[in-house]
Amino acid sequence: MITKKQVVEWIAGADLRPVKTQGTGHASVNIALCKYWGKRDEALNLPVTSSLSVSLPGLEAHTVVRPADEWSLRLNREVQDAGGRTARRVFDYLALFSDEKFAVESESTVPLAAGLASSASGFAALARAAVDLFDVKIGGDMLSVLARLGSGSACRSVYEGFVEWQAGIRADGMDSHAVPLGQPWPSLRVGLLLISSGCKKTGSRDAMRRTCETSSLYTSWPHKVEQDLCAIREAIKDRDFERLGRHAESNALGMHATMLDSWPPVVYWLPESLEAIHGAHALREQGVPVYFTMDAGPNVKLLYEADSEEVVKQRFPAMRTIVPFP
Ligand code: PMV
Repeated sequence: MITKKQVVEWIAGADLRPVKTQGTGHASVNIALCKYWGKRDEALNLPVTSSLSVSLPGLEAHTVVRPADEWSLRLNREVQDAGGRTARRVFDYLALFSDEKFAVESESTVPLAAGLASSASGFAALARAAVDLFDVKIGGDMLSVLARLGSGSACRSVYEGFVEWQAGIRADGMDSHAVPLGQPWPSLRVGLLLISSGCKKTGSRDAMRRTCETSSLYTSWPHKVEQDLCAIREAIKDRDFERLGRHAESNALGMHATMLDSWPPVVYWLPESLEAIHGAHALREQGVPVYFTMDAGPNVKLLYEADSEEVVKQRFPAMRTIVPFP
């Protein structure tokens, strides 16, 4: 079995030494329009299928890594418990690069209560900061591979705009990285509806594993992704918003269908999630092109275009609007 450490050594080299007093990196959060759900290799975060996302500029992690006598992690200026889950993940990640100890500070402009998975921007920023500290000369593909080792969806956060994570077929995962599509869509809007910022009972890693192991619906998931991915790519090329929205919404619902079909079932929806879904559908029935997507949690993200902003905002006054292509 290939280990993360071997992958880092192939990309960055063995016996890396910090060449500066600190390394810095930043990255935006991304939201998948066609989801990554299921791993073909758990250790390397290699996905069963490709996926496609849009990055949300302004919702970013800025990270600084410094060599230190003791391991430490500060998130938004708050010292984290060094034995806690988040700190352990960060320290284990940096231990892939070097045997030294590091102090990590990360400031996130992703509001903590936004219900967005901040691990994507967090690990992409951490990978950049490590590469900067050790002065590793690599391109975007390999930076994306390094970010993926921290958290799968982080590999898409190394780029802005629409980004496709190509699943790849290699056992070492060197061909499993993000590629920017480079097709801006200035009128696209993402509306964040915070339903709950509470800690989830089941994290995405466990939920993915459970789905793959127990859901009979999951066997049809790769086929669905193939269709949605193709349609979303074409919709982006043709600026066909209704096609984009339809396939993004259907893809998110398909992913949740596999979760509901798992045992024990994974049910992330809260009554307010369903209310938001019905709200979006009611707007659509009135002729407003608004769609939604959801990840491994109860929060709902609306997709619409600038000319629908007013009417969408009227229906969802608490919504926070993000402009993916400012
Ligand atoms: O990268 P992870 O392990 O946090 O998984 C993310 C999974 C989803 O957010 C549900 C889908 C996706 O493609 O981002």
